[in-house]
Amino acid sequence: MQNKKNSNFAEKKWWRDAIFYQIYPRSFNDSNGDGIGDLEGIKEKIPYLKDLGIDAVWLNPVYPSPNKDYGYDISNYQAINPEYGRFEDFTELLDAFHDQGLKVIMDLVVNHTSTEHAWFQDSRRNPNGPYGDFYIWRDGKESGAETPNNWNSFFGGSAWKYDPLRGQYYLHLFEEHQADLNWANPKVREEVFRIMNWWFSQGIDGFRMDVINMISKDNSFPDDCRDLDELAIKGTPYFINGPELHTYLKEMWEQVLSDPSKFAVGECPGAGFEDVLALSGLDRKELDAVFQMELMEIDHGNGGKWDIRPWKASEFSAKLTRWQQVLEGRAWPANFLSNHDQPRALSRLADDDEYHFESSAMLAVILLSLTGTPFIYYGEEIGMPNADFTSISDYRDIDTLNFFALERERGRDENELLKIIRYMSRDNARSPMQWNGKPYGGFSSTEPWIPMGRRYTQINAEQDLAAERSVYKEYQKLISLRKKTAALGYGSFEPVESDHEQLIAFMKRHQQGDYLIYANMSGRNALGQLSLLPDSLPEGFTMELEYSNYKRTTLHEQELKDGILNLRPYEACILRIVVYP
Ligand code: GLC
Ligand code: CA
Repeated sequence: MQNKKNSNFAEKKWWRDAIFYQIYPRSFNDSNGDGIGDLEGIKEKIPYLKDLGIDAVWLNPVYPSPNKDYGYDISNYQAINPEYGRFEDFTELLDAFHDQGLKVIMDLVVNHTSTEHAWFQDSRRNPNGPYGDFYIWRDGKESGAETPNNWNSFFGGSAWKYDPLRGQYYLHLFEEHQADLNWANPKVREEVFRIMNWWFSQGIDGFRMDVINMISKDNSFPDDCRDLDELAIKGTPYFINGPELHTYLKEMWEQVLSDPSKFAVGECPGAGFEDVLALSGLDRKELDAVFQMELMEIDHGNGGKWDIRPWKASEFSAKLTRWQQVLEGRAWPANFLSNHDQPRALSRLADDDEYHFESSAMLAVILLSLTGTPFIYYGEEIGMPNADFTSISDYRDIDTLNFFALERERGRDENELLKIIRYMSRDNARSPMQWNGKPYGGFSSTEPWIPMGRRYTQINAEQDLAAERSVYKEYQKLISLRKKTAALGYGSFEPVESDHEQLIAFMKRHQQGDYLIYANMSGRNALGQLSLLPDSLPEGFTMELEYSNYKRTTLHEQELKDGILNLRPYEACILRIVVYP
């Protein structure tokens, strides 16, 4: 029977209808020739974004930061990083977006601050002062020099750092200059909520919340005694989805987020179905949506992201299916295939070379056919591939550099490490936006803070827009198709061929019409079995082609007769189910 469960999503919210575009400001557009992207640079590109058809942007952090983790180590929450502009530049940018009808959400990084934040500086100097308890300070184990427990930082090594001034260790789940805030202290929560409300009073439309499911820690700080791979992170069961997480988020909702026009999407690594439902279930009053990472772990081995393993289309399909189905009618999904923490989806999940155009458009079909809010990552709309740097000196990301240094110390081969890094490093997705083929890619008039992606002279916005087969134009087509097709953004999800080794196929069903999506994720021809369509489809239906990334205008009669869809390498189709009276 046709599934009507999704009527729970019928309540209008701007962010449910919106297509987001994520901007990594440092790498988007440099307006003043210092090699660093900036707010004025973003403003210059609003027409480009508006033409694409998006409705909202998420800005990665633009606050003052010593840049140990490029903005995720914040030293002042209520100011703009001077590298990016003045505060007035921010308000002008916000107004300029709003003038075009585009919303803006900011990054909220409150699991930790920079160790240069005034709170931390005070905390280490004055244990009994007002900020003494703002961070997580512990003595070492009785034995003296030993860290309080065996937890690891996500960026390598222990999660504890000794501060000689205070004579104690502080917790840092990320880089050692990113000290974790002590959310158990009500004063910390009060400050965070005050800051959030202040940003809303500046006119922003919402927040993307960095690692928000890590703010509550098990306050007994036990050792992690699991038997784990050497590269795996110890401690996660005690700080991911910790004991007071929901208490804190409900408080935040009460004090900051209850106005339905404010959008809150939380980044929640390690969150499973139950966690996501508890965090963003429709009646939960916590978050509006969650970025869960399961799809991004498709090529991770037991040792985590640096332990790369091959993946299969059938796994991809299984993950998509489970998440779409479990959340259906219960929690609104936030969908993405790329972001600033992942290699580019085009290089990771498809072919960024021989089938560059087909692959880029195929991934767009998947992203824009799922129920939930889609997030396009800058450059994705022109098929930007991995930066693919060949020398370790080209990398800037602390996670990458720490991994390289620590594994070299352990004696691992340099070339083996570089191969892993060329595939997995976050810097693959942080190289400057490729606007044109001139020196520095039209991003800047001078050498950028991070090198241009290796292939920017061939792959860039100027060429793409002039090409016969333009990825940007496919995005435009797909975005407008999505906007007029309720089934894509809101429909229920039914897998069609879940065990196929090459392709994924699913139906999106909605009162306003049913659609069938096929995506060949391989570089070989693939056969889709139309006979596997659900029995619940009406008698005598046929299909009409709404979209293909190949030059096909209809389904071939033979295909319909044989019940076999012939998909070429990386071909993706959207078909509408039609019943003639
Ligand atoms: C999140 C961010 C990532 C950052 C980390 C620490 O995962 O997306 O870029 O390094 O949190 O703030
Ligand atoms: Ca600049």
